[in-house]
Amino acid sequence: MMETNSKVLKVTSFISEMKDVARSFKENDLNVGFVPTMGCLHEGHLNLIKKSLESCDRTVVSIFVNQTQFGPNEDLHSYPRQLQSDIEKLEEVGVDVLFHPTNEEMYPSGHKTSLQVNKITKSLCGKSRPSLFIGVSTVVLKLFNIVQPNKAFFGEKDWQQLAVIEALVEDLNLDIALIRVPIVREADGLAMSSRNCYLSPQDRITALSLSRSLKQAVDVIRQGTTSSKVISHLIQQCLLEKGGLEIDYISICDPKSFKEKEQICGRTLIALAVKIGKSRLIDNCVIEEF
Ligand code: PAF
Repeated sequence: MMETNSKVLKVTSFISEMKDVARSFKENDLNVGFVPTMGCLHEGHLNLIKKSLESCDRTVVSIFVNQTQFGPNEDLHSYPRQLQSDIEKLEEVGVDVLFHPTNEEMYPSGHKTSLQVNKITKSLCGKSRPSLFIGVSTVVLKLFNIVQPNKAFFGEKDWQQLAVIEALVEDLNLDIALIRVPIVREADGLAMSSRNCYLSPQDRITALSLSRSLKQAVDVIRQGTTSSKVISHLIQQCLLEKGGLEIDYISICDPKSFKEKEQICGRTLIALAVKIGKSRLIDNCVIEEF
């Protein structure tokens, strides 16, 4: 085992070894920050890692493409994997530990437990990807048990995922502080995502309609429009304007319960999911009370 506080990245694929490291952190009273990822690290991930490095004594990152959160016709096999360059990025920023387990390590034959957060998983992404949040909840709880973090960092791009993880931390009485981190965007507005690398140059241009439509929605809301039907129609027009994109959902809802709202009143989430080529992209914004 390498020395972690000399900022040499320790890489392990084994749960038992990761648990030993977590135990030694606890014994030394070190505050541990955790950033779970599926790899193909981009500035959004690096921003989460930066927040952890700034506020914790040790930072653990996991890279695990979690098969249980992919549906049968989804992109599990083509999901981008680039471990070597991810490791270089983690070394450069000074992460302490990379936990990079295999499928067999996380789900040995005979694995029979899964975790379901109810109610808030039935709409938005949970509706079109029914296995998504069962897979996410199960793997995140397993990772929390293995890494034993004090804080865990998640991006607000996956707004519903974050709400699901907040629910499981609260309902299962976990002593972990969840830190929400705002969406990181490219200079032209595209929300950062590992799936952006599937986009052809043309699809990349099409994808800009997500952030553009959200911006237009915010502008008309600021000018006084409150009807969700009107705003949803405007977003739809903006998304479909140039073609090349299929809408999964446009949701104007409560940011905690995900109940659809007929009018924009109080804090409101506008969330979108679309398919462009092989990529399913999501984006969102929150209208604060006004
Ligand atoms: O957001 C992700 O990258 C994944 O859903 C997560 C939280 C790492 C679980 O596999």
